[in-house]
Amino acid sequence: MKLVLLGPPGAGKGTQAVRLAEHFGVPHISTGDILRRQVAEKTDLGKKAERYVRAGKLVPDDVVIEMVRKRLKQKDAQKGFILDGFPRTREQAEALDKMVKADRALLLFLDPEDLIKRSTGRRVCENCESVYHLLTNPPKEPGFCDRCGGKLIVREDDREETVRHRIQVYDEQTKPLISFYKEKGILVQVYGSGLIDEVFERAMDALTGAKR
Ligand code: AP5
Repeated sequence: MKLVLLGPPGAGKGTQAVRLAEHFGVPHISTGDILRRQVAEKTDLGKKAERYVRAGKLVPDDVVIEMVRKRLKQKDAQKGFILDGFPRTREQAEALDKMVKADRALLLFLDPEDLIKRSTGRRVCENCESVYHLLTNPPKEPGFCDRCGGKLIVREDDREETVRHRIQVYDEQTKPLISFYKEKGILVQVYGSGLIDEVFERAMDALTGAKR
């Protein structure tokens, strides 16, 4: 499975990507996670990306395209991948199309006010990047990761005003990719509301063509 996940910030792409990657036995490749890691490690790439990520703006295309090109060359990505957060612009989509043909693009959509609630309640493990939500997906022990015991933190770009800006950036720059993938005949759309397991079932039905 070579799958591209599309959708606004907070729609649940990362949450579903983890489950889809496990189901299909392919790596979950999140450009947001890679960039945040580079920023934390203060690499050259991280230094270039930091101000964009903090402000909820898109990191320049050439930087992200090169980063994904390298990642897709790694051995584990040869059997397939779940690409989460890439492509986000027409230029990125065209670059990806030249690197490898995606089998499906799955759009997760959600109402704008729900997106805000999802992002502002999110907590992330600073160690293994597992994602939780204070109300809808809390850890067993408040403040600590179920998987590795790491400390849970608030993402810098999850302040409400930054989230609103990220949604605007999505509407302007990434939403047009819906038609890009529709024209290729590989787009499937899934409503991201409801329990995490319900959304996963809906996504699997959409990907396998099953009727509910
Ligand atoms: P990135 O990390 O990709 O962020 P995003 O696309 O804005 O998406 P999010 O991670 O905010 O949300 P999500 O849809 O994954 O939702 P999640 O599953 O966490 O990008 C961050 C930044 O990096 C960008 O702003 C940009 O600067 C840069 N960047 C990244 N890629 C780039 C690119 N290609 N080009 C240029 N720049 C790039 O869920 C959200 C919350 O809801 C969680 O708390 C979760 O527990 C909860 N939740 C999920 N599903 C459910 C459910 N069904 N019910 C209840 N709660 C749920």
